[in-house]
Formats: sequence, structure tokens, C-alpha cells
Amino acid sequence: MTSNQQTTVGAIQNEVLAFTAGRDVELDRALIEVDCIGSAAHVTMLSQLALKSPLFSEDDVTAVIEALVAIMRGARAGRFEITLADQDVHLAVERTLTERLGDIGKKIHTARSRNDQVAVDLRLFAKQELLETVTEAVQLGRALARFAAAHREMPMVGRTHMQPGMPSSVGLWASAYVDALLDDVVLLDAAYVLNDQSPLGSAASYGVPLPIDRQLVADLLGFARPIHSVLHANNARGKMESVILSALSQVMLTLSRLAQDLMIFSMPEFNYFQLPAEYCTGSSIMPQKRNPDVLELVRGKASRVLAQGIAVYDIVKASPSGYNRDLQEAKEPFIDGLSTTRACLRIMRLFMDGVTVNQAALRQGFTPDVFATDRALEWVGEGMPFRDAYHRVKEQLADLEQVDPVEAIQKKTHLGAPAGLDFQAYGQRLDAVATDWSARETAYHERIGQLLRVSYPALSAG
Ligand code: ARG
Repeated sequence: MTSNQQTTVGAIQNEVLAFTAGRDVELDRALIEVDCIGSAAHVTMLSQLALKSPLFSEDDVTAVIEALVAIMRGARAGRFEITLADQDVHLAVERTLTERLGDIGKKIHTARSRNDQVAVDLRLFAKQELLETVTEAVQLGRALARFAAAHREMPMVGRTHMQPGMPSSVGLWASAYVDALLDDVVLLDAAYVLNDQSPLGSAASYGVPLPIDRQLVADLLGFARPIHSVLHANNARGKMESVILSALSQVMLTLSRLAQDLMIFSMPEFNYFQLPAEYCTGSSIMPQKRNPDVLELVRGKASRVLAQGIAVYDIVKASPSGYNRDLQEAKEPFIDGLSTTRACLRIMRLFMDGVTVNQAALRQGFTPDVFATDRALEWVGEGMPFRDAYHRVKEQLADLEQVDPVEAIQKKTHLGAPAGLDFQAYGQRLDAVATDWSARETAYHERIGQLLRVSYPALSAG
């Protein structure tokens, strides 16, 4: 015996409803605020439509926006429900507006589809998340730069093929990850710019026979511009998530390698670095253990974020033009990929602030052969062709003398070498990113505050 559930969009068989809504009823909780923000812009624009009989009066707009802000406040207090009969946040908000405002609520869906609602929701959500992601990346960058500067003269054998290679420093090791994060910010920025376009007004992908103002909606929401083609506005869903996840997977690649280095260099066999005991976990059977679970999880989560990007790419790959419900499956990996990456950035910053270095172990790595290349280059300085110097050192490896590693690294003074690292420049580059992205955030918050007529994100009056 099968039973049906009445929904805003008709009766649906119960199991079909549960299957098609899937996890949206929970996942869409993350989209309540942005869905309300999108609706505030939409109703504002609709009220300005040049129609014979206006859709919304000024008072209607005020009432809708107040009701939307009330929903947002309610959601923050855990008092907004998305039911299975709603299917998703979009219809839950429409139901609530209709319960509170009657006919005014019933008009809110004029000239739009849930498809462009979810598309705009995800873009607003992504914008906020990317702003936070870059802030967190900068904070980790600063922690690494501090660590590098504090240990700029701390010798550390530079390795290739994991074998001892040349004299280097802890400062160089850590600063390399600052550069990597700054590179990753470039990718996050490209993803941000791509995301910063309004899909609203696409409706079911093909536009509507009403003179809607897509530019106005884009402006009200603080987007750089509307996506031009209404069909692309819909088709770009999923692709946008795929681009963002691919930028995030590069961040995770950086974090995974940093985690891997820390794990190797904190093994007792190396003992270069010590991880704070309280940041490690114990074993249920081996009393002595201090395990770097945090670092292993960061490494594991890098695989997860990459896989989420591939999942989304694969969902989009065979998706024909126009909306297809497959796209709903991209929501979970997307939201999770963002929160996973951000959690890893935050925990790695905590970790970097706690890592200590063991000077004795670091110095012990400096066997005389580590200075072989330096010795050859010394002879080059005295006029010997490099290949001759190379062979001479190779023949006399056993005679190489121990050198003070600090003196050795002090001689590498050129740009970006252990004694040529420009910590001021790192600081300036990190500051520039922080200033730029915090200005973007302030501008966005102000724009949304104007739209909602309350301060945002506080949602306080006045
Ligand atoms: N939950 C849906 C999604 O994420 C919302 C859009 C539903 N649109 C539709 N035509 N059934 O894709």
C-alpha cells in the first residue's frame, strides 16, 4: 500500500518524495540565509517591474523583507524547519512567507524557478566560504612565516630523493609552504571571480516573458555582474562547484605535503620537530604512543576533497543543457569540500604554532658529505671548471671536512636562498591578501545589509 504526501508542487508518493528530496532537507539548512537574501533581492526587483498592476507595493516589499529577516533570525535560533513536504529550503521559505503574509507570499515565486534559486544560493554561500577560506589560509601563512623567521638560521639538511643533499635551514623549509599557500590564493581568487556572477533571472533556464531586471538583482546582491546567457546561468551550476573544489584540492595538496613533512621529520628516527603532546593522540594498547593523527587526517582529507571535486566534475560531465536533478548530488560534496578544507587550514595553523624544533638532531644530520657541493662550488670560485671540481670532490669524498652548518647556510645569500629569504616581503604579501579580501567581505556585508535593511551579518536593527 502506497501513500502520497501533499507538497506545494502536487501530491508525491512518499518513497519517491523521500528519495528525491534526499539529504536536501538537512543540507539546505546551510542555505537558509542565502536563500532569504536571494529572495529579498528578487522581491525588491519585482516591485520595480513596469507592469500594469504592480506585483508588490513598497509596503509589501517591507513586509517580505522583514519576514525574511525573521526567518534568518529564527534559523539562527534553531527555529526554522525544512520539512520533507517542503523538499528543500526554497519551498520551505515560500511556505513560511505564505503562512505569514498570505497572497504576498504566494507571489514571491513569480518569474523564477528553484533552479536559479539554488544556483544563486550556492554562489552566495560559496562567496562567504571563499572569503573565510582565504582568511584562514592567510592565518596559516602567517604562522608558517613566523615559524620560518624564528628558525631562519636553524640548520636543516636539504634533501632530494629523501637523501641528504645540501645545507639548508628550517626557515627555508617553512617559507616554501608560505609561497605554496600564496599560489593557492591565486587559484582561490580565480574561483572567486568566476563565482562572483549572478545567475538569478534564468528561471527554468530560458528566461521569462516579463521585463525582469537581472542587472538590478546582481547589484542588490553585490555580484560583479549577471551571467549573460540565462541558459549558461543554469548550466554553470556544478561547473562552478567543480572549479571551486579544484582550487580547494590544491590547498589540500599543500596541506597534505606539509602534514607529510611534519610526520616524517617528527619520527623518532629524525626527531627534527616535536609535535605538542596535547595535539597528538594516544594508543589504546601502547602506553608510550604519541600519534600524529591530526596530520594523517589532513593527508586523508586531501584525498577526500580531490574525490569530491572529481565527483562533481563527473556529475556535470554528462549533464545535458538546462537543469537536471543530478545537480542536486553535487551539493553535498561541495559543502563538505569547503568545510573540510577550512577545518584543515585552521588545525594546521594551530599545529604550526605548537611545533618545536630540536637543534641537536637537526645539526646531527650534517655529516661532511652534505657539504660536498658547497666544496665543489668553492673551487669554482677559485677558477676551476665545475665538472672538474665535481669529480675532484667525488674522488675525495672521504676527506671532506665537517663545516659549521650555520656558516654554510649564511653563505647562501641570493634571492630566496636560506640567507636570502625576504621575510618582510612575505609579510607584505600576506597583508596585501588580507586587506584585499577583508575589503571584499566588508563590501559584501554592507550590500546585503542595505538589501535587508538591518546590519549584516549581525541582523541587528539600525
Ligand atoms: N533541491 C534541488 C536541487 O538542488 C532544487 C531544484 C529543484 N528543481 C527542480 N526542477 N526539481 O537541484
